[in-house]
Amino acid sequence: MSPTPALRGKHIVLGLSGGIACYKAAELARALGRAGASVQVVMTEAAERFITPMTMQALTGRPVFTSTWDAREASAMPHIALGREADAVVVAPASADFIARLAQGRADELLSLLCLARPAAACPLLVAPAMNREMWAHPATQRNVAQIIADGAVVLGPAAGDQACGEVGEGRMLEAQELCDAVEAAFQPKWLAGRSLLVTAGPTYEAIDPVRGITNRSSGKMGFAVARAAAEAGARVTLVAGPVHLATPQGVRRIDVRSAEQMLAAVLPEAPQHEIFVATAAVADWRPARHTEHKVKKDGSGRAPALELTENPDILATVARLPMGQRPWCVGFAAESQDLVRHARDKLVRKGVPLIVANLGPATFDRDDNVLVLVDAQGERELPGADKLTLARLLVQEIAARAPSAAA
Ligand code: C5P
Repeated sequence: MSPTPALRGKHIVLGLSGGIACYKAAELARALGRAGASVQVVMTEAAERFITPMTMQALTGRPVFTSTWDAREASAMPHIALGREADAVVVAPASADFIARLAQGRADELLSLLCLARPAAACPLLVAPAMNREMWAHPATQRNVAQIIADGAVVLGPAAGDQACGEVGEGRMLEAQELCDAVEAAFQPKWLAGRSLLVTAGPTYEAIDPVRGITNRSSGKMGFAVARAAAEAGARVTLVAGPVHLATPQGVRRIDVRSAEQMLAAVLPEAPQHEIFVATAAVADWRPARHTEHKVKKDGSGRAPALELTENPDILATVARLPMGQRPWCVGFAAESQDLVRHARDKLVRKGVPLIVANLGPATFDRDDNVLVLVDAQGERELPGADKLTLARLLVQEIAARAPSAAA
């Protein structure tokens, strides 16, 4: 099942100011288009030195605007018309000069004029800085960035890493897909604004010896989707992840662990700091009773060594038993191969949690789509088949409606 195009029906003005990162704006235009958005490109004169309007027109299917005096707009006021049509303005790349112009409210070329003239309440401004690390670190730039944030802009990045100038540091524009994800996030309802959520994800790995271990087929995708959806919904999110190869969702704090015992040790001090706990991790039920320092060797007898197992701590049940005041509102997951609802209801009671989210384990492992059944004391509710991010967004909405807020 391909993901629901999250930007379907959205119209984005993509503004380019001067910088070598303009080449990434071409990819961004395509990513936004793939996500369902229509894209109108506006370029400054400096941007035209780095990439041609023709390239951007070909990628978006719309002629690019570069001048305040462009007569194509019927009203002869492109700065007004473009901003009124847009659901968001995304400036990527935003040069140091362009950010300074925004901070000052300058209006002497089309892109800054358009940013100033857009209806700010209905049309968010997202700004992706791209510049040399010294320029980024300069107090003047930092002052300007703080000013545009205070004025309501959302600043995306920048990232640290290799720079086109050969230096290494902070100032790289985020990658196209990261920017596209951030645009999607800007449109998500803020169900969890001001709240905090802790989530466990992925499998655990229980070492037998330095080269072998016990693990399971959990990919971590559902838990990472929950972390992303919660962050998009405005929550402060901490993700405790078992061994998986997945990128950390933007704005999420991640703690990597390997074994169930490490996961518990990471979760316990965090739990009282969060209002909501979602346990999606497929924690190994058992671990080898003894850890062997060196690789276990065949002894030539033809007999396999006995593998004695001991039970792992139940992280969810432990958190659900924390005293009031330290205990977040807990959500468990149940991956079953049959009798979904009966097993989920059993877990609801056994673990002492208010909500269990059931799914058919073997049908969802390592896949991008899933079907969820929400089981609580009141009854059951199915969230029908969709990609995991769409389901995670629905689940976050359900959690927000059920979890009592600390402020309440
Ligand atoms: O007991 P079972 O593994 O079926 O329960 C699944 C739920 O409990 C999931 O939410 C899982 O993250 C959590 N769990 C846990 N610690 C364990 C086992 C499961 O937190 N040791």
